[in-house]
Amino acid sequence: MKTPICDFVDKYISSGISRLHVPGHKGISFLGCENRDITEVFGADVLGEAEGIIAESEAIAAGLFGTYRTFYSTEGSSHVIRAMLILAAQCFPRHGKGRPFTVLAARNVHKSFIHACGLLDLDVEWLYPDGDSGLNSVCSCPITAVQLESVLSGHSGDLPDAVYITSPDYLGTVSDIRGLADVCAHFGLPLLVDNAHGAYLHFLKEPVHPIDLGAVMCCDSAHKTLPVLTGGAYLHIAAHPACCAGNAAKGSVCPGPELPERLAAGARHALSVFGSTSPSYLILQSLDLCNHYLSDGYKKRLDETIRSVNNLKKQLSAPGFSCLPSESLKLVLSCADAGLLATHLRQHQVECEFTDRDYVVLMFTPENTEKDYAQVLAALETLSANESIDARQSTARGIRLPRLPRACSIREALLGPAEMIPSRSALGRICAVPTVSCPPAVPIAVSGERFDEKALDLLELYGIREVSVLKEG
Ligand SMILES: Cc1ncc(COP(=O)(O)O)c(C=O)c1O
Repeated sequence: MKTPICDFVDKYISSGISRLHVPGHKGISFLGCENRDITEVFGADVLGEAEGIIAESEAIAAGLFGTYRTFYSTEGSSHVIRAMLILAAQCFPRHGKGRPFTVLAARNVHKSFIHACGLLDLDVEWLYPDGDSGLNSVCSCPITAVQLESVLSGHSGDLPDAVYITSPDYLGTVSDIRGLADVCAHFGLPLLVDNAHGAYLHFLKEPVHPIDLGAVMCCDSAHKTLPVLTGGAYLHIAAHPACCAGNAAKGSVCPGPELPERLAAGARHALSVFGSTSPSYLILQSLDLCNHYLSDGYKKRLDETIRSVNNLKKQLSAPGFSCLPSESLKLVLSCADAGLLATHLRQHQVECEFTDRDYVVLMFTPENTEKDYAQVLAALETLSANESIDARQSTARGIRLPRLPRACSIREALLGPAEMIPSRSALGRICAVPTVSCPPAVPIAVSGERFDEKALDLLELYGIREVSVLKEG
């Protein structure tokens, strides 16, 4: 498998050329990686207008992921989400022309989605889970195909212009993307997916990446599940999205078979609008090298890793730990004292990805070693001796994303004059910038929504002491 970006940098280093260009380290070692950290010099291509080695590497990635086109980002899925929404707003003619582009989105969005809607002045209609379904967490918002179909068929007025789903979510719940894409197709709507946690899904024995299942576009944080430096991400465009299939509804907003080409034609511009003009060549090389990694026995290694994770789950279930069903590379423990459990793990040399009151999330890849599995097991085995931690399954219920009244648009709230106030004084105030830490970065209140009692209780539960609200008067 060719690695054109890495090969170029190798040659550049060995050429002995004097670096009379940025970056200022001039290739001299400070951290150790500086000699590989170049900029868009002659021959190195330009990410925003790639036609050379970057475009070549992206085409290799597209072949590996089975997409129509794949584009690199060195600024994470957060960047790709903004680009994906600008592309959607550009390429899909609106159902209701007299109003902003409107996205129907499952409410557990990452905050970058809110930022994008504010910057692009998009409107959002939220989908919440049916009844009591879903886990006890703001990360959880399972939307079924049946539910989506019922929301769209019962929709009064203009339909939304696109549907947006986060899958897998932070707790490893995977949505029925095929079912959701088919419903979207029936109503002539594109399905966009935040697949930040699921880059590996295409490489399973049965590929279940959103692009395999009918989505139009998705973002993958390559850095979350593949051996890519932090910030490396993909924008994938599907060759055969469900909404372009022959069974799409009459009056469909999807432009038809030329859609993938239209999206691909706009993608670099959309990424450039929100991206830096100084992309990290370290991250680009890392994405480039990942192509080689993916083509060199990755499927087999992934399969072995999944077996090891499943085995660990079994070993943990025996002494009574509750491992939730989740996507294959996550181990999600539901626990009455999850925060204490995470501290216990840390004291035993295991750092988790995420914890809140009820869950501890551990993420694995083929790069984890046997020692890592053994340390998790050993740490949890010592737990029975530590009686101060209750490792039984969390039984608390009722943590749900609140349905808050909207006072103004996301844009007005995000860009308006704001102030930070103590969370407990926020009752009735309008959320400005969503205050939420990452992970999981799922906002309790969205910009423009008014805080109610339930929202304040959740802020307290998640330890958020200050919030950003619009100034009054
Ligand atoms: C569901 C989800 N979407 C998007 C993002 C943003 O990804 P990135 O950190 O690659 O910008 C994250 C980050 O944690 C996430 O969990």
